[in-house]
Amino acid sequence: MPKSQLTIAVCSLLFVLTPAFAQTPPADTTLIANPVFQANCAKCHGKTAEGRHFGGPSLISDKTAATSAADLHNIIANGKGRMPKYAGKLTSEEIDTLVQQIKTPSKKE
Ligand code: HEC
Repeated sequence: MPKSQLTIAVCSLLFVLTPAFAQTPPADTTLIANPVFQANCAKCHGKTAEGRHFGGPSLISDKTAATSAADLHNIIANGKGRMPKYAGKLTSEEIDTLVQQIKTPSKKE
């Protein structure tokens, strides 16, 4: 195989592999950086998760921090009061990720 063809072959292989890596979210993704949160939750809980008047309460409050992961999962999956249920809309893994991110408030920089 001529050298130039080999170069093209290697380059296209890298090109194919790169998106697979790019899709893996970084381990320290925060709640507000999660597109699932911005698409589904931000309209009530605010883009910064600090809550909105007439919307939803803050998700970075002491109260939320004191709520167990199981209870948070339950509230998101089954709803509570004016909080809609997400059981049919999000997968269990997506809800688990949200719960983890709620339990790990964004580090103050
Ligand atoms: C239609 C508005 C609305 C949307 C959309 C919404 N929420 Fe809520 N959420 C609420 C309201 C209102 C409450 C307060 C419920 C109550 O205590 O009666 C709440 C409560 C919560 C709680 C409990 C907080 C606590 O401290 O007890 C969590 C966790 C939560 N929401 C997460 C989410 C997540 C994650 C999403 C997106 C998947 C979401 N919410 C989307 C309105 C909303």
